[in-house]
Amino acid sequence: MTLDEAAVERISEETAEKYRKYFSPGQANILKFSGFDVPEDRAEGCYIYDISGRKFLDCVGGYGAFSLGHRHPKVVEAVKKQLDKEALKSHFFMSIELADACEALAQVLPGDINYSFLCNSGTEAVEGALKAARIHTGRPEYISAANGFHGKSFGSLSVSGREVYKEGFKPLLPISQQVPFGDADALVNTISNNTAAVILEVVQGEAGVNVAPDDYFPKVREICDANGTLLILDEVRTGFGRTGKMFACEHYDVQPDIITMAKALGGGVMPVGAFAANADIWNSLFGKNPYLHSTTFGGNPLACAAVTAAIKTTIEEGVVERSFRLGKMLLEGLQSVYKLYPNSIKEVRGKGLLAGVEFDSEDFAALVIAGCGRRDVLVAYSLNNPKVIRIEPPLIIEESELQRAIDTVGEAIAETAEMLEGVMSE
Ligand SMILES: Cc1ncc(COP(=O)(O)O)c(C=O)c1O
Repeated sequence: MTLDEAAVERISEETAEKYRKYFSPGQANILKFSGFDVPEDRAEGCYIYDISGRKFLDCVGGYGAFSLGHRHPKVVEAVKKQLDKEALKSHFFMSIELADACEALAQVLPGDINYSFLCNSGTEAVEGALKAARIHTGRPEYISAANGFHGKSFGSLSVSGREVYKEGFKPLLPISQQVPFGDADALVNTISNNTAAVILEVVQGEAGVNVAPDDYFPKVREICDANGTLLILDEVRTGFGRTGKMFACEHYDVQPDIITMAKALGGGVMPVGAFAANADIWNSLFGKNPYLHSTTFGGNPLACAAVTAAIKTTIEEGVVERSFRLGKMLLEGLQSVYKLYPNSIKEVRGKGLLAGVEFDSEDFAALVIAGCGRRDVLVAYSLNNPKVIRIEPPLIIEESELQRAIDTVGEAIAETAEMLEGVMSE
């Protein structure tokens, strides 16, 4: 159905009004200000369509959720088939779908990590991992990295960075310390025999796509082992091929004790999270009481059908290799843009199809995001470092589409630089 201009305007205004009255006046204002005030309607592959029929190339990728693109047919089919049979479980019986999803996960998870607990989001996965580390070690404290992002529930927020999201909610978990990301010496100086776990993203996403030095994770592994501390790697964003490996920890040949996942885990169709560990840690958490950690909706059959189909599709379609190959093209392309605008761009960095471009100011970054949007290409804001824009497209993106995204970022930078130069000279 194509709506005429008047209908688009009316529906957009009605929706904004409902946001203002019933959801979030602030979000209504921000979206209007940034030019994204026509609601989105549908999505397919790498594209999102708004209600006017305008088509956007999605290089935000659901912050990592749409690795297989929007509505991948194999995942949609699996979920529809399950919906026709049973939507949610009674929890009185065993679930074939849950068993299958956990088996599929065990087949791709690193090393001896064979047990998974399915939940509904990334932050729940992190909460579960933090609890597992505490009960396994009997220790109270956590160490995480400055500016990291692990979610916004209390435990996850405690180990996340950016004060603005934390200050109004204190006291958080009282014994959580942060060290600079990539600095192994700082970790040595902070860790103690009270540290239950070190929790880190492998590539920091919301902190602005920070990639650690090559020897960082092997050193972190050694430091944790020497102190009897568990290593939790948060692969909520990086899991399932985003960085060009099934899990980003494989770049460094380092196995975590506990791994957290979400986003792409549900194939871009269902919201799913999970944390996983080996038999030993599982025994500490569930050995005495299998219901010590539980959830009503986590591991529901629709989510499980999506997980099994998503993992199968990721492997069958060579999505991880594609991300590795196209990731090189993306980074090289953005580096060429950097060479054109060295005064506007501070740095370009990334791994696989997760790339960041850092500017001198948050305003410059916001204007570039808006400029890309005006050219029908969506790129992301970074919550814990708004000077960085992120390019995080579906891993199924075609070369020509990726080139368009790179060119568009270049055009938006040129436009922003010119506009700000004009303002300065006035
Ligand atoms: C690394 C990481 N961990 C955890 C989360 C929290 O996930 P969710 O928003 O599903 O709670 C995010 C979300 O962006 C994330 O990037």
